[in-house]
Order: sequence, then C-alpha cells, then structure tokens
Amino acid sequence: MSIIKVKTKLDEYRYRAKSADINELSGRTNRSDITHFVNGEIAKRMEFKQGDIVVDIGCGDGTLLEIAESEGSFGIGILPSEEEVTRVRDRFLTNSDRIKIEQGLASKTELPDEVANKVVCNGVFLLDEEDVNLALKEISRITKPNSFVYIGELCFRDETEGKNYGDSILKWLLWVLWNQGGGEFLSRLKQTLRAIFTTEQMLILPKSHYYCTPEEFISRAKSFGLNINEHFPHKSISLNNEVIKSSSRQDYIFIKV
Ligand SMILES: C[S@@+](CC[C@H](N)C(=O)[O-])C[C@H]1O[C@@H](n2cnc3c(N)ncnc32)[C@H](O)[C@@H]1O
Repeated sequence: MSIIKVKTKLDEYRYRAKSADINELSGRTNRSDITHFVNGEIAKRMEFKQGDIVVDIGCGDGTLLEIAESEGSFGIGILPSEEEVTRVRDRFLTNSDRIKIEQGLASKTELPDEVANKVVCNGVFLLDEEDVNLALKEISRITKPNSFVYIGELCFRDETEGKNYGDSILKWLLWVLWNQGGGEFLSRLKQTLRAIFTTEQMLILPKSHYYCTPEEFISRAKSFGLNINEHFPHKSISLNNEVIKSSSRQDYIFIKV
C-alpha cells in the first residue's frame, strides 16, 4: 500500500515524479486528455512559430514544450525538483535537441534576462502574495519587451469551499460521487484500489491555496511591467469530451512593456 500525505505543493510534485504515468506530473490524475486539451489551447492562443524561444514555468510532463517544438520553436521547461527534472529530461533526451529542462522556481528560474519571447506559467499554484509578486517580477525579467506572457488556471475563489472531507479518503470518494458523478467516482475508486493493492502511489494533498480577483491580479502584474492583453475563464474538458468553462480559474495573457 502506498498512500502518502504530503505537506507542500513542491513535495507533491516530487512524489508525482515517481509515478508510472508521466502525466501525473501535470497533476491531472488519469486525465492526460485534459493535459493535451489545456496545452493545445495555450499553444493556439500563443501562436508558437519557427524561431520562438518559449519558456514554460512548471512545465509538468512537457506536453506544451512538445507542441512548441512541433511548430519549430525552442522550448525551455522549468521544474522545481531534481526528481521531476530527471523524469522529464529522460522523456526528451533521445529525440529532441530543441527542448531543455532546467531546475528552478517561478520565483527564481535561474534563466538570463529577456531570454524568451513567449512565457507560459499554467496551473502553477503559488503560495501567497509574496510568492506571486516574486513570480511576476521573475517572469517579467526573463521576458523580452513586447512579448507575450500566459498565466493560466489562477484561482479567483477558494476551491476548497464545500470540500469538507479533510484527509479522509472515504469521505472524499463520497464527495466525488455526490458532486462529480458516477464516472469520476469509478475512476477515483480504481485509483484508490490500485494504491491499496499495488505499488502505485496515491497522494493526500495539501488543501489551502492562493486566490485573488482578476482586478487585483491585473493591477499586481502591471506593477511588474506586464500589461493585460486579454483574460478569460479557463477551459477544460469533461469525461465526455465536452468543453467546460471553469467557475473558479481564470487565464491571463499579458504583454511585457
Ligand atoms: C498542475 S501542474 C501544471 C503542469 C503544466 N503547466 C500543465 O498545465 O500541464 C503544476 C506544475 O507546477 C510545478 N510547480 C509547482 N510549484 C512550483 C513553483 N513554485 N515554481 C515552479 N513550478 C512549480 C509543478 O512541478 C508542476 O509541473
């Protein structure tokens, strides 16, 4: 049995790097379809092309970098732990000299100034106001002037509201059944049984997260030289492949002045 309670987001992804399924690095258990959809949408909006230098901060399993490479761009993925870096480097090592994976944080990428003309940071749950400010400052520093920055899946309300299952797996499964339906329940039940009867791990995650209103985020970004170009509800897909607009997450595209 391998059910592990993790304390921080950084620990969560270090553990995810050990999973058999590389999509675990995107945080979307059993839903690599969502990872492909979400990153495909970002790629459409960012219009990757030959010669672009794309930095993907918190690049998960590297799906976005793969898309950018297929459009002729050069991609740099940033991941916080050595375990994730090794796992994703292994994925690209033999077949790509246009993708680099480096260790770093949204607040400290270790990349040179103005290195990229397209920067993406999607689904990277930042910790608090200070972490958000540091990340915005860092993103602005590594982006060339007049270039685009995509910050996606930023929560504008508390996603833990109404999720009163704490760390109990049984209560969580019942919550899934009640709120997300039979299909999602069966998928989560299978995940739980696999964790009980095989070596595949299951993580009990930290519950609190940062959120802020679009107005607040846009004004915060502006103070770091990132002017809003457009913002819209984050889009995902259901088990039946229907496109769903998020009721708690917003995507933002900025231009670095
Ligand atoms: C939900 S996944 C999103 C992955 C990918 N961007 C996507 O949308 O498919 C979150 C990613 O953020 C990374 N991450 C978490 N905290 C981070 C931080 N402080 N700085 C940089 N990356 C971080 C994780 O390692 C993981 O790759």
